[in-house]
Amino acid sequence: MTIHNLGDQNSVLNQFISEIRDVQIQKDPMRFRRNIERIGEVLGYEFSKELLYSSKNIETPLGNKSMYLSQDQVVICSILRAGLPLHQGLLNYFDAAENAFISAYRKHENDENDFEVVVDYFAAPSLEGKVLVLTDPMLATGRTLENVLKGLKDHGTPKQIHIVSVIGSQQGIDFVQSVFPAQTHLWIAAVDPELNARGYIIPGIGDAGDLAYGEK
Ligand code: URA
Repeated sequence: MTIHNLGDQNSVLNQFISEIRDVQIQKDPMRFRRNIERIGEVLGYEFSKELLYSSKNIETPLGNKSMYLSQDQVVICSILRAGLPLHQGLLNYFDAAENAFISAYRKHENDENDFEVVVDYFAAPSLEGKVLVLTDPMLATGRTLENVLKGLKDHGTPKQIHIVSVIGSQQGIDFVQSVFPAQTHLWIAAVDPELNARGYIIPGIGDAGDLAYGEK
């Protein structure tokens, strides 16, 4: 897997990440959602450089211009509900993208640390020959992404897989790297060192779904 940690570079992306981390700014859910969307836009622009481009003649009112455009069909696949603002950010740039949605939750067995990821809603188009973009705003353990990948197996073989994530734990990234095909790209805005006992990224941001849409 190729890991593109864009938060390692100096850019306006760090402004958006610091705002979603900040407990004071987090009090405004609209700003939180918009910042996640903006992060999706930046990461989407970056991975667009991996698509296949061919030239097309564009007629302007005053002449012609050959432009490079991508013919790749992009499918954006998000996990409800925390993935929705990131999904919207990507859709802002990929106008013709198809969409897939999955709902997954953690089913705890005996204690907080012992859980399986249950996928109970799945709606996806064919992925055959397409560019699959999986969004997971908080790449904590990586087990949700593993289950999503398994669930998508019957939908055809994509030509490229891109994972788009806002913040990941090093442990989650290592796990995803071990279960995804080697050609997968991970586009991520920040990598944090730890996971706590409940599987939350430390220092992270807290619960991304609650911050975007309110506590359950
Ligand atoms: N999901 C979240 O919303 N936050 C985390 O830190 C981990 C998983």
